[in-house]
Amino acid sequence: MKFFLDTAHLDDIREATERGLCDGVTTNPSLLAKEDGDPREIVREIAKIVDGPVSAEVISTETDGMVREGLEWAKLASNIVVKVPMTMDGLKAIRIFSSQDVATNCTLIFNAMQALAAAKAGASMVSPFVGRLDDIQSPGMDLVAQIVKVFKNYGITSEVIVASVRGPMHALRAAELGADIATIPWAQIQAMLRHPLTDSGLERFLADWEKIRER
Ligand code: E4P
Repeated sequence: MKFFLDTAHLDDIREATERGLCDGVTTNPSLLAKEDGDPREIVREIAKIVDGPVSAEVISTETDGMVREGLEWAKLASNIVVKVPMTMDGLKAIRIFSSQDVATNCTLIFNAMQALAAAKAGASMVSPFVGRLDDIQSPGMDLVAQIVKVFKNYGITSEVIVASVRGPMHALRAAELGADIATIPWAQIQAMLRHPLTDSGLERFLADWEKIRER
C-alpha cells in the first residue's frame, strides 16, 4: 500500500520523503488554508519535493470552471493530479480531463456507487472519506471493502485512496483490504510507527552497552 501525506505542510512532506514514507500527497482547500503563502506556490513546491502524485483541488462547482482551474493546476508540474468533487458537474469534468490525459482524484466519496461512477467517468483515483463516515456512525472501512470488491469484480484500474484517516487502525485495515493508497497526516504516520517495546528494547540495549564501555 502506498502512503500519501494528507497535508500541505512542506516540513512534514520533507521529513516523510527523507524516510521513504511519502509516495504522494493530497491537499485540499482546508489544508492549504492552514499554510501561509500562495497556494499555487505551495503546491508547486510540494510537487518538486515529491516524485509521486500531488492532488490539488478545484473550487468551482460547475464543469467549465473545474476544467479551467484543473488545467491551471496541471500546468504547475507533471505529477499534479486534479482533485474533483463527486458531483454531476464533477463527473463531466473528470471525463473531459480523462480525454486529455489529465490525472484526477475524485474526492468526497461516501458510497460505493459514487466510486463506481467516478471510475466509469475516468477518474485515476477515488477517495472514500472513512473518518467522516465514522463520525456519523457509518463504518467508513466497510465502504472501502465494498469499493475494493466492486473494482476487483470489474477489473477497474482506478486506485482507491483511503482518505480522512483518523488513526492507525484505519491505515492497517486499509492495507488488509488491499486499498492502493492511504493518505495520512504525518503525525499519524509517526504515531503508528511507534511501539513501547521498541523504545524500552532500545533503552535496554543502550544501557547494557554502557556496562561494556565501563569495563
Ligand atoms: C484527502 O484527500 C481528504 O481531503 C482528507 O483526507 C480529508 O480529511 P478530513 O476528513 O480529516 O478533513
